[in-house]
Amino acid sequence: MTADTLLGADLLSIDQLSRAGIVEVLEAAEAFAEVSRRSVPRVPTLRGKLVATLFFEESTRTRMSFETAAKRLSADVASLAVASSSVKKGESLRDTAQTVEALGADVVIIRHAHAGAPERVTGWLEDARVINAGDGWHEHPSQALLDCFTVREARCAALGEPAEGSGAGPFEGLEVLIVGDVRHSRVARSEVRCYLTLGARVTLCAPGTLLPRDAEEWGVEMVSDLDDVLADADVVSLLRLQTERGSGAFVPSLEEFTANYGLTERRAAMLKPSALVTHPGPMVRGVEIASTVADAANALVLRQVANGVAVRMAILYLVLGGEPERLAEAT
Ligand code: CP
Repeated sequence: MTADTLLGADLLSIDQLSRAGIVEVLEAAEAFAEVSRRSVPRVPTLRGKLVATLFFEESTRTRMSFETAAKRLSADVASLAVASSSVKKGESLRDTAQTVEALGADVVIIRHAHAGAPERVTGWLEDARVINAGDGWHEHPSQALLDCFTVREARCAALGEPAEGSGAGPFEGLEVLIVGDVRHSRVARSEVRCYLTLGARVTLCAPGTLLPRDAEEWGVEMVSDLDDVLADADVVSLLRLQTERGSGAFVPSLEEFTANYGLTERRAAMLKPSALVTHPGPMVRGVEIASTVADAANALVLRQVANGVAVRMAILYLVLGGEPERLAEAT
């Protein structure tokens, strides 16, 4: 995993991408966002390709978004319904992945509870590309890319400038505040790497129990008092408590978590007028984010979802070897 661009590579971690490699994805996504705005949002770019989704954990956004992206590129889509598949008869991840490739998959998109599962799959497949759609606490790279795409779009719109061609400029000096259950969050790990690589500064805000043990190696600030840092933030990225990973045991109660780390109306009023609020979803309204804050104009939650399709079209295009120089033909 040495490429610094996504061209013809697997997407396993943000770490594999240089700043230029990330910007290449963002710029390609601008072209595919234009496709998504057409009355018939479909291009023949990946006609004849088969995209397979293997989701061993629940998903609404990521799975539907990748499948919509593949269909907009005219690829065929095969989805493994794990709960009614031969996984339930004891078939291994290796045999499942190799079966999907034998069926003709050109890309295998995998979400798995175990960190590193997508990387293991790359070693078992002959030719198919692998995309990590979330592996345990490790990474969720496509989420970080769509989050950065959405923030770049909003920053450029506020300045009245086109996002296309803006490169990493909108991230220079940007203050990103990531709040909540960082310890159990694969989104946080990918976002930190993505924002830092693009030139932003990142602060993590969480109780000590919800900060990762190795966070000092991440190149970020760490604070525990949310009220102290809200006024400096350009972007507030909220994370839900990952109760499916046991995070309920790391806070005294939901009420106390909300009192100290929830973006309540009172706290939202402390933000700069230009500050943006992001959330990867699913949101738990009333816990990490007040319902009114989630629905406010500066909350980008649904914009993140909409942009996810264009960003994932770009990812599919690039991992299958589509050249950035040929985007005009591809779209
Ligand atoms: N953000 C995210 O990964 O959402 P889903 O779990 O619904 O895919």
